[in-house]
Amino acid sequence: MNDNGEIEYSEDFICRLELAFGEGFLSPGGQEEVAKIVEGINLKNKIVLDIGTGIGGPACLLIEEHGAEKVIGIDVEEPVLRIAAKTVANRGLQDQVILQKVDPGPLPFDDNSFDIVFSKDSIIHIPDKLALFKEVYRTTRPGGWVIMSDWYCSEKPFTEEMKQWLKTIGLSFAMTPIQHDGSFMQQAGFIDCKTLDRNQWFTKLSKDVVTRLKGPYYEKMVAALGEEGAQDWISRAQMRAVISEQGQLRPGHLRGRKPG
Ligand SMILES: C[S@@+](CC[C@H](N)C(=O)[O-])C[C@H]1O[C@@H](n2cnc3c(N)ncnc32)[C@H](O)[C@@H]1O
Repeated sequence: MNDNGEIEYSEDFICRLELAFGEGFLSPGGQEEVAKIVEGINLKNKIVLDIGTGIGGPACLLIEEHGAEKVIGIDVEEPVLRIAAKTVANRGLQDQVILQKVDPGPLPFDDNSFDIVFSKDSIIHIPDKLALFKEVYRTTRPGGWVIMSDWYCSEKPFTEEMKQWLKTIGLSFAMTPIQHDGSFMQQAGFIDCKTLDRNQWFTKLSKDVVTRLKGPYYEKMVAALGEEGAQDWISRAQMRAVISEQGQLRPGHLRGRKPG
């Protein structure tokens, strides 16, 4: 949702992202990347908050693959939540994945509500990250973890290609270098904070996406987006691969623990 309250993840855009990143996902890496984000953290029988749940793929995997007892998936946009509800129902997880529309800002939950706060590639949309991490801290139980991935950037100056990509992306990104979010996490009170840079992995994945869109997915993409839409989506995917290879776009993982 942008500053004017307008939807950013329209059905058309959701379709484009699923073509690039796979069914149920508005972000890269699918099942393997979710497993990497949660690596070493025991989710069995845990209550998890998923911030920016999108169309539900990651939230379902937290139950199906990682044994979480319940996932509360929150998002600010209706279209994604409508699709998420179908994803959850198709997988028979209505009692375990609870979807909730929220407004941007403070989290509408009591203190110490969650064992784990998870997020995949969504915090990028939230400009006041210190306020966000303070809210995450408040709602995480003592001893609980925040585990997330996001799209980060290098320190400025940006290359011309990066500036161009940011202009054309059409999303309200508040992208920072990963160290900035790590420091906000610490300021909020989290300890044992760790970051993991995923730039090399993402560069390879971005090139693979371009190959898939030009090859096996091309017909399907033209059917969904038309010829012009398909060419536009390929050129955006190419741009992503370039800025990632330049080291400007640097997806990564971040985690920290609430003392207790
Ligand atoms: C790139 S998508 C990622 C969705 C999902 N986590 C995934 O990996 O497929 C980012 C999501 O964050 C949501 N979002 C944006 N601002 C938000 C906020 N302040 N609180 C919760 N969700 C937000 C968007 O509506 C969108 O669904």
